[in-house]
Amino acid sequence: MDDWLNQGLNHQPTALVTGGSVGLGLALARELVRRGFAVSICARTQADLDAARALEPALHAIRADVALPADRDRVMAEVEQHGGHPLDLLVNNAAIVRAHDYANPFTLEQDRAADEIAINFAAPVDLCRLFLKSRMGRARGPGAILNVSTPGAFFPLDANPLYCATKAGFHMFTLSLRRHLAETGVRVFEVYPPALDTRLADALDVASQAANGQDAIDAVAAETIRAVLAGEEVIAPHKQSRALLKMFPQMDPAALDEVNRGVKRRAGWDRA
Ligand SMILES: NC(=O)c1ccc[n+]([C@@H]2O[C@H](COP(=O)([O-])OP(=O)(O)OC[C@H]3O[C@@H](n4cnc5c(N)ncnc54)[C@H](OP(=O)(O)O)[C@@H]3O)[C@@H](O)[C@H]2O)c1
Repeated sequence: MDDWLNQGLNHQPTALVTGGSVGLGLALARELVRRGFAVSICARTQADLDAARALEPALHAIRADVALPADRDRVMAEVEQHGGHPLDLLVNNAAIVRAHDYANPFTLEQDRAADEIAINFAAPVDLCRLFLKSRMGRARGPGAILNVSTPGAFFPLDANPLYCATKAGFHMFTLSLRRHLAETGVRVFEVYPPALDTRLADALDVASQAANGQDAIDAVAAETIRAVLAGEEVIAPHKQSRALLKMFPQMDPAALDEVNRGVKRRAGWDRA
């Protein structure tokens, strides 16, 4: 393998795909196996992990809930022990989606937002922290974080306000993280899949999802991993992703630099 990640490594590259038991996560995990990675997956449902391993025996499957801090610690430790060195590629893929209607008593009667925020936003932010911490003072080689976003991060879906909000928040975190790590060996990637025919999309109920079955899921996964290994940080792996992204203007990088120059970073700024 002669891509930017493998060029700098002297071991078999390792990857963790959260939510890698089904859907896009499983397709990404299988593509990474095909590309020579030692791949771990995690999810909550043991039967799905078993089925994933039956399909792809090379996968190392860990039952875990990424919303639980103790499970995140355990997964990161187990992945490192399994690979024999700090993780090289973290894929933050696990997510859930729920319908909420703030004009409806059902939504108002109980908190159904907290675990969506925990799984879609707090968990991947903390996994980024744990990934970077695992490399502190140790790995000098390259590393990568791939965050799975959605075009829904850019526009409000009436039925799924928390899905959009958590994905939008995570998108913003991803942009800042990429800037923080610009001088390090860790590159930060973000992918915008189209509507795919997965379990998650059943809850989204997007009209075009049925057209994007397993072949499309596999093609999106293959294009995503190709782009990561080619060093393309913003990944629109399908014509629907590209069409949707075109609707939203990208901020001029020079303007972004200018704004950030105006925000002081005093000594110890990260301890404030
Ligand atoms: N499908 C689409 O149309 C679409 C479009 C754009 C973006 N995306 C994004 O693509 C990613 C994958 O979505 P998908 O469609 O493949 O979804 P999916 O088929 O529903 O799979 C979700 C995966 O995440 C796992 N998961 C959920 N909560 C978890 C938790 N707390 N801890 C550990 N694992 C957890 C699930 O396993 P368990 O439930 O067993 O834990 C499952 O493995 C998501 O980030 C999604 O936002 C999807």
